Amino acid sequence: MDDLKINKRLIMTPGPVSVDPRVSQAMSNSILGQFDYEFVDIMNQTMELIRKSFLTKNQWSFPIDGTSRAGLEAVISSIVKPGDEVLVPVIGRFGYLFTELVTRAGGKVHNIHKPMGEVFDQSEIIEALDQYKPKVLAIVHGETSTGRLQPIDQIGRACKERGIYSVVDAVATYQGMVIPVDDWELDAVIGGAQKCLSIPSGITPITFNDRFSDAINERKRVELGIRSTETTEQDHFIRSNYLDLTQLQDYWSPKRLNHHTESTTSIYALYTGLKLALSEGIEARAQRHAFHQEGLKAALKALGLEIYGDESNEMKMVICVNIPEGVEDAPFRNGLLKNYGIEIAGSFGDLQGKIWRIGIMGYAVQKQNILTFLSAFAAYLLSQENIKHLNIADAIKTLVNYYDSNEV
Ligand SMILES: Cc1ncc(COP(=O)(O)O)c(C=O)c1O
Repeated sequence: MDDLKINKRLIMTPGPVSVDPRVSQAMSNSILGQFDYEFVDIMNQTMELIRKSFLTKNQWSFPIDGTSRAGLEAVISSIVKPGDEVLVPVIGRFGYLFTELVTRAGGKVHNIHKPMGEVFDQSEIIEALDQYKPKVLAIVHGETSTGRLQPIDQIGRACKERGIYSVVDAVATYQGMVIPVDDWELDAVIGGAQKCLSIPSGITPITFNDRFSDAINERKRVELGIRSTETTEQDHFIRSNYLDLTQLQDYWSPKRLNHHTESTTSIYALYTGLKLALSEGIEARAQRHAFHQEGLKAALKALGLEIYGDESNEMKMVICVNIPEGVEDAPFRNGLLKNYGIEIAGSFGDLQGKIWRIGIMGYAVQKQNILTFLSAFAAYLLSQENIKHLNIADAIKTLVNYYDSNEV
């Protein structure tokens, strides 16, 4: 049998991205049993790290085993019962993912839309809350498909004042910027692993408050086989078993009531990734992302590329550029990967074939990587047949000068 051989890559997509070797090393530790006191201690510490990472005191801060969409689906399928009304603002593909999850949970969706590349003014969302009076608002914070950052700092309070539950997809922004869950009064927030946190995908940190917990526990059903006599059956119990947050609460609390078998190596990765992120500091980490994004964006402009979308609402962890005329999206990206081991992303729907998305996420966001990326990307672009004039020297000079004259 051949050994697994993985070639070296510089991943500059909006996830998954490279992992700090200390995370990989932690994952190679021996497996522990899920009720081993040492593992239980790591689980408890991981919950505390998740609380710190979301700047929250929420007891209910634990990971979902599964990729970020499992986190989104756990939250939506636990809070939304058939017939419940949910407001979902859409500024790109991931607003449609919320729409899809709510529909599959039997909820009634009210969408409000913005043209691609734009975001909502928070007052427009608050007006829609008053118009539709939904039970839940489900909103995407960092819309990676368009590279837009939706402001949400006033949304949590507005929901609370109206008795509405706020649910936030912070998959792409988590650990790439500061998301003060308690200060923003958000009810349930889903983070991401393989983006700015820089650990392998497959585990998703989430947090929710007691108000949200009370609401989902009205739908609690403990599964057959571990049910105690005092369990009472509710109407409209949560249909999902694996993604039932109320059963997961029993698993992630001193009860340790058995549910799934926790993924040991994923917990090692999450624990280590969070330790590294918090020792860097959330604010410092946010500044590092914004710092390198600004330098690379200036260099790409100097190269002669157009930045996609309004820069006043851009995410600092993705740069979207219009694909230059005459260059084909997928063949170019495949060539960049084959020739230089560098990966960038295209986009979805109407933006497919029109923009490239360059991720500025997590561990890979370091000066030498950004310089390597710019040099190889520009050189390969120049080698394309139909490309118009590109100012490679200006681009490199811009980035080098930026790094010489600025500090994070
Ligand atoms: C904003 C956003 N939400 C949700 C997801 C889904 O995450 P996953 O692929 O980990 O399930 C992504 C992934 O790209 C994302 O960017």
